[in-house]
Amino acid sequence: MSRWKGLLHEYKEFLPVNENTPMLSLNEGNTPLIRLDTLSEKWGVDAYVKVEGANPTGSFKDRGMVMAVAKAKEEGSKTIICASTGNTSAAAAAYGSRAGLRSIIVIPEGKIALGKLAQAVMYGAEIFEIEGNFDDALTIVRKISEVEPVTLVNSVNPYRIEGQKTAAFEICDALGKAPDVLVIPVGNAGNITAYWKGFKEYNEKKQTGLPEMRGFEAEGSAAIVRNEIIPNPETIATAIRIGNPASWKQAVEAAESSNGAIDYVTDDEIVEAYQLLARTEGIFAEPGSCASIAGLIKQLKSGEIKKGAQVVCVLTGNGLKDPTTAMSTISVKPTVLPNDEAVFREHIRGGVFQ
Ligand code: F0G
Repeated sequence: MSRWKGLLHEYKEFLPVNENTPMLSLNEGNTPLIRLDTLSEKWGVDAYVKVEGANPTGSFKDRGMVMAVAKAKEEGSKTIICASTGNTSAAAAAYGSRAGLRSIIVIPEGKIALGKLAQAVMYGAEIFEIEGNFDDALTIVRKISEVEPVTLVNSVNPYRIEGQKTAAFEICDALGKAPDVLVIPVGNAGNITAYWKGFKEYNEKKQTGLPEMRGFEAEGSAAIVRNEIIPNPETIATAIRIGNPASWKQAVEAAESSNGAIDYVTDDEIVEAYQLLARTEGIFAEPGSCASIAGLIKQLKSGEIKKGAQVVCVLTGNGLKDPTTAMSTISVKPTVLPNDEAVFREHIRGGVFQ
């Protein structure tokens, strides 16, 4: 088996890669597609998760960022800029440093998961917190990139979408065809746009079929579902705390033309799915990611997703990115014992681990 060389190399025939494009790579992509054996049986479906937390910076953003940063470098840019709820900035900072570019990131004050902030710090990005939310930050960086010599690497940059569409290719390759249903969290709506583009391109080339696209916003930031901009979005899933998605129209188009839907899940449903997935299947994904699992549960109950369907849920980011939410949503704390084997045995016999 040959060694995986990263997305620009592996999928160059589907990507805007030419002889001048630097073959930037942190060996992103090739993430696991894991079958949820216990939950599939419980729910009466054939459910899989695409574990994007296995990417180099722990989220799907690496797929788009490798392409966007390579093109920025190819075009002679020296600086990249982005707004972020945390994962985009971690990926931008990593690929920026790998490519030798200056990375400027703009984040909403106090609403970034700890691990994501630690990543931006470690990768050496210049970090600015604004007294506003993600949508405000995006407005600022869009304007700045129009007047300053900096490259915007948010998903309004079309190269981001190009890189991210490769996840759809990998799913088709792993299953031999597209699944019946693709379930995905929706924040700024770039990723659902990218997957839909990927499924369509692969289908044209390899007749892999098309899935129903089912996207899930968090209830407190469900702008697309409510069909109105939400000025003060709020959700425990800070990754998708977005009230005015940039790719709004494309997300609606993907849902409508695939016979799917954009829906929302509550914070309680997200937390329930977050815990269920970790405890039942041994997969720890960040809260925003678990909007997909919560969405599958919701639409199995409503009958919109049919029993027996083959479903892939996208787990967009690694659970380790947000230890604070993990610790605050679970009440179990480690039991402190004296350093004594007999006392320890007494405790486990008593069933503290049951
Ligand atoms: N899941 C995670 C873990 C995310 O970080 C994001 C977006 C999404 C889902 C939603 O994807 O925006 O393409 O619809 N995070 C962006 C960021 C906004 O700044 O990291 P989307």
